Amino acid sequence: MSVSTSVQNGTTTAAFQRCLNIDCGATYDVGEVLTRCPKCFDLLDVAYDWNKVALPSKLSDLEALWSRRHDPLRFSGVWRFHELLPYAPANRVITVGEGQTLLQQADFVAKYVGLKPGQLYLQYEGMNPSGSFKDNGMCAAFTHAHMVGAKRAACASTGNTSASLAMYCAVTQLMKAIIFIGSGKISYGKLSQALEYGALTVQIAGDFDDAMARVQEISKELGIYLVNSVNPFRLEGQKTVMFRVLEALRWEVPDWIVVPGGNLGNSSAFGKAFLELKELGLINRIPRLAVINAAGADTLDVLYNQRNLRWSRGRPRMEIACWYYDELDRDHVKADTIASAIEINRPVNLKKCLRALDACDGVVRKVNDQEILDAKAQVGAGGIGCEPASAASVAGAKLLRQQGVIGSDDRVVCILTGHQLKDPTATVAYHTTDQDQFEEVLGSRGVTRASYANRAIAVPNQMDAIIKAIQLYS
Ligand code: F0G
Repeated sequence: MSVSTSVQNGTTTAAFQRCLNIDCGATYDVGEVLTRCPKCFDLLDVAYDWNKVALPSKLSDLEALWSRRHDPLRFSGVWRFHELLPYAPANRVITVGEGQTLLQQADFVAKYVGLKPGQLYLQYEGMNPSGSFKDNGMCAAFTHAHMVGAKRAACASTGNTSASLAMYCAVTQLMKAIIFIGSGKISYGKLSQALEYGALTVQIAGDFDDAMARVQEISKELGIYLVNSVNPFRLEGQKTVMFRVLEALRWEVPDWIVVPGGNLGNSSAFGKAFLELKELGLINRIPRLAVINAAGADTLDVLYNQRNLRWSRGRPRMEIACWYYDELDRDHVKADTIASAIEINRPVNLKKCLRALDACDGVVRKVNDQEILDAKAQVGAGGIGCEPASAASVAGAKLLRQQGVIGSDDRVVCILTGHQLKDPTATVAYHTTDQDQFEEVLGSRGVTRASYANRAIAVPNQMDAIIKAIQLYS
């Protein structure tokens, strides 16, 4: 793939790519298309020589720039923090208005979680143009892809990454999207986006982990730009979710960030964001991070809590993960959860997530599908709908509150990663009056009750029967 001259000669000299392996530490130009270190095959970070960046002296200084909302660079909720992810020349960034998201104080949900009023916030990333947090990272990776002259971009996906990629390709008409999905593993809301936006959709016989392994091979073989979160530029965009949380809290650092964990891109990006802000003296403390797995896809929970895998000053014993993956293969264990977005057993960003957990004094928990769906129903009843995977954050916060790890006075931010309409099947099955539908979609996953169901009432088409029903139920 050719490297465009504007990258080589442009304004990006402060940025470079660096191998995560501290015993390797190789560095590469930002114009190189790499998702792993060619020398040791470890993950790569985007790193900066901050002395060469015109940084604000305090975070609130950034706000002055945002009055220029006619300028797409300052309108985007990602690129208005360009100074904190300065790898692309300002005039080359690609935006479709991503990151216009909301930090909502949610007292109704706070009560469910067990927090005092005013202490729970929901960061609603479902407001992004394609309906999930992925747009934060996709505009960043897509910008890099365009900088290096890519004409085709690929990803494996449980649905949201593919919807986001397909959208950027369709809006800009700059690239062809090629998406890999597991068979029967993607919700209709997400699949419909990719199909409508014109992505070449490759459904392989297997699950997300199989698709992820394949897309890495195939993109290398065919020279297709890979936009999964193994791409370090994706994570640069996802850092901005935390910048916006701080912005909404008037630059005060909360006590906890709680996030669902799938491929572990978000948690890794959030850790990197806080490490960098601290290093730059722009914040004086780092919040604690809680990463929440689904019980049916609990690799991080197993490795962190049962097998004691830690960052270990940059030398984590990754062979512990390899042994675990061998066990999964031997026992034919596949990820299985109603939260299809996080139905992942081999998280590609595992090592970076360990760094984030270390930096943020983190904890890892898992929640089952019953807990996820109950939390989701409560989030919805509080007015902000989300998809099942997103609700893992709220279910996880509730669990940590019950365990006394989160205090009732703590200020907690749960990340709602995707929009409610992404997966209507799970929602309708939870609220249904049809026991067969409930059993088919949820019963098979160990969900036995819908404690917060809001059931439709069936009435004959007669005035007095309808009036009677309304008076009875309202
Ligand atoms: N929540 C939602 C709604 C997601 O779509 C994903 C990941 C996650 C959480 C997990 O985030 O990977 O950063 O830990 N979805 C990917 C996809 C895998 O293909 O759309 P993570």
